[in-house]
Amino acid sequence: MNLSELKKQAIEEINRAKSSVDLEQIRIKYLGRKGQITAVLRSLKDLGEKERKKLGRDANELKNSAEALIAQRKIELLDAEASGEEKKIDITAPGTKVMHGHLHPITLITRKIEEAFLSMGFKIIDGPEIESEYYNFDALNIPQDHPARDSWDTFWLKTKPEKFLLRTHTSPMQVRFMEKNNPPFRIVVPGRVFRYEATDASHSHTFYQLEGLMVDKHISIANFRAVVEEFLRRIFGREIEMRIRPSFFPFVEPGFEVDMKYGGSDWVEIMGAGMVHPNVFKSVGYVPDNWQGFAFGVGIDRIAKLKCKINDIRLLYSGDLKFLNQF
Ligand code: PHE
Repeated sequence: MNLSELKKQAIEEINRAKSSVDLEQIRIKYLGRKGQITAVLRSLKDLGEKERKKLGRDANELKNSAEALIAQRKIELLDAEASGEEKKIDITAPGTKVMHGHLHPITLITRKIEEAFLSMGFKIIDGPEIESEYYNFDALNIPQDHPARDSWDTFWLKTKPEKFLLRTHTSPMQVRFMEKNNPPFRIVVPGRVFRYEATDASHSHTFYQLEGLMVDKHISIANFRAVVEEFLRRIFGREIEMRIRPSFFPFVEPGFEVDMKYGGSDWVEIMGAGMVHPNVFKSVGYVPDNWQGFAFGVGIDRIAKLKCKINDIRLLYSGDLKFLNQF
């Protein structure tokens, strides 16, 4: 094939290329390492000088114009292909869902409990998780070597000379609050507490309580009962079967525990409670004869467990997203 025929054929093929992939094949056919135009250029070295000069010029011209034509055609084809893509976008296809976080069930239930107490005129107070022995025990009428202390297995911190601990309950906030405030008042204190004990389906070394304290001139167990009933009604959305039974805590007298039933369950203990002990009033500088009050400590995990029908408390602290994503 002579050069002009080769040129004609190449131009025709380049112009007829239907896609950029097609065009690349054509480029290889003519200009690739084993391409037809390349072959002509390679053959020049075997020719005599005169012939080489003439054919060489024409062949190089052909190579350059073929390259230019291919480059031009490539832009056209890529453009057409890109706009074809655009037309293919299906605007009715559903989008990708945006993943976003949500609150932990403990946070959700704590907020709900706080709302219930806010609606009854309670204030929400915060307190430290690291406590002194004085606030966690002594000021709550739990003397140094009293066996009652063993009810709260304690994580002690390695501090000297003063001993610090991780609070074993939210009750120390009763003392902290009363030291700085005078009755009448009603407060609740939600917070994390710690016990040095073995973990199982209903025990965790870290859990959440909500302390309640109401002090005024004439506060009775009837007031306590009314507040708890209203609290349960608000959380569970209906009248809840509950009972108060006698129990012992050094910082209350009398002391009791509250049980409830829910969703076909047997009696479940949800809080310790009682009428504030005169010794606690004394330790914060109140005149015990002038004041009466009730205190309680409700297990937030217990309420969450009942309300969300969770059978193992450890799930709440597992960080397991398969579990948590249900809330
Ligand atoms: N602090 C007690 C506990 O953790 C509960 C409680 C609070 C009892 C207030 C009486 C009054 O077991």
